[in-house]
Amino acid sequence: MLSVAVLISGAGSNLRALLDAAADPDFPARIVVVGADREADGFAHAEEYGIPTFMVPFAQFGTREEWGAELGAQLEVWRPDLVVLSGLMRLLPRDLVDAWSPRIVNTHPAYLPEFPGAHGVRDALAAGVAQTGASVIVVDNGVDSGPIVAQERVPVLPGDDEHALHERIKPVERRLLIDVVRRVATGELDLAAASANAAH
Ligand code: GAR
Repeated sequence: MLSVAVLISGAGSNLRALLDAAADPDFPARIVVVGADREADGFAHAEEYGIPTFMVPFAQFGTREEWGAELGAQLEVWRPDLVVLSGLMRLLPRDLVDAWSPRIVNTHPAYLPEFPGAHGVRDALAAGVAQTGASVIVVDNGVDSGPIVAQERVPVLPGDDEHALHERIKPVERRLLIDVVRRVATGELDLAAASANAAH
């Protein structure tokens, strides 16, 4: 059984989907802890499932490195097999990425490498593209630049605003994320191999 820590910043709707999937006894992974960099609404989903939470507020630390060191210490308590960044809106410091890579994945609401960064949906709309997408990547030290392990296209429809488009992308993200966690758990997806291939 794969143990998973999920890190969030916001509503945690993708976290919710993962929790619902993991509640199925046949699902090969379990969420062991949910962490956040702020008082995130998504904690409510973890609490509903009786899953422990921790918070490492960015504002309480002088530097990204100090914040990351505490985040890493919290993760060490749970020693998950996999860390999922599910809407964590902070860049992780290099030491933390190096400590967990390749056992750390991130979901992103765009078809990477298109539209990386904090505003993937807004940027796709501003670019006027006919389609965008959703991606799951292994986290590396760049901004949404790690090896892509799953992605799918989502059309941009006439009249879409950022909210409407994001709400259409999210179900795709959820499906991809759940499938990636399942495939890592079963050994179908080898994150180390995916990362090594990307490096060559
Ligand atoms: C998700 O769409 C996630 O991909 C995005 O934030 C949303 C979180 O929603 N993350 C990023 O844009 C990271 N660059 P949620 O809190 O409802 O799951």
